[in-house]
Amino acid sequence: MSQNDIIESITGKTVQKKKSKIPARLDLLQSISGLFLALFIVFHLIFESSILLGKESMYSLTKMFEADFIIEGGSPLIISMLAIIISILFVFHAFLAMRKFPRSYREHLRLKTHAKMLKHTDTNLWILQITTGFMLFFLGAIHLYTMMSQPQNIGPYASSDRIYTDLMWAMYLLLLVSVVLHTGAGVYRLIIKWGIFDGKNPRRNRILSKNIIKAVVVFYLFIGLYSLATYMKIGYEHKDNYGERYHSTSEVNHAS
Ligand code: HEM
Repeated sequence: MSQNDIIESITGKTVQKKKSKIPARLDLLQSISGLFLALFIVFHLIFESSILLGKESMYSLTKMFEADFIIEGGSPLIISMLAIIISILFVFHAFLAMRKFPRSYREHLRLKTHAKMLKHTDTNLWILQITTGFMLFFLGAIHLYTMMSQPQNIGPYASSDRIYTDLMWAMYLLLLVSVVLHTGAGVYRLIIKWGIFDGKNPRRNRILSKNIIKAVVVFYLFIGLYSLATYMKIGYEHKDNYGERYHSTSEVNHAS
């Protein structure tokens, strides 16, 4: 009898029932989609922090994503398409994760008591993940929709005007904290679940992985908050010229 078979005894007769492979496959798909999203976020927040190097750096990077090296002036449509692809992955990942949400308030209370009794880090991590995941469902949707519908409004001034004058900073603050914590907890759980770095000493390597992830989470929160503060400062200085677009120094020189 294979490992996947379970034996069920009904009225004295032994009945063999094949255990479904679907939950394991859905688990794998959830891990793979989560990994892709984590990679996206890791690069996205670094690219976003180009504002720390100055307006010109962020502008050049924005234009590079609009493929200005192929299309004259760049095309914001590329950003919309990227946002659509990421949204599909985002919804797919969230949909798979919903299977694991506590289904009723009673189940939620039982989980809370369980976590309190055990004081188990992994249970607490799981609670952190479903809470931040729930927040991301709304915050991520707002951000993705904005990127999809207004891809032309990305740049040192356009982004800063949105963050400062349009008061989107509060949404970005919540989005930043929830996405960084969610990604950190998610990557740690992936490492544990699939025993990725277990090696010869799983206990030691798991503690090491946890400490590295904690350091990376702190680093990302730092650069994210610093970038957000920089967008706020630019937005404040630019508030009287709200709506005006940034022009690269080379474009200005060319025009004059
Ligand atoms: C293709 C899809 C995406 C594009 C084009 C995009 C682009 C941008 C841009 C241009 C900004 C700067 C602020 C602004 O202009 O409004 C920003 C900020 C941010 N985005 Fe995205 N984004 C995408 C997907 C996501 C996703 C899926 C998440 C997380 C679920 C995310 C999380 C963030 C966070 C946390 C910030 C604030 C960064 C900071 O504080 O430094 N983005 N994004």
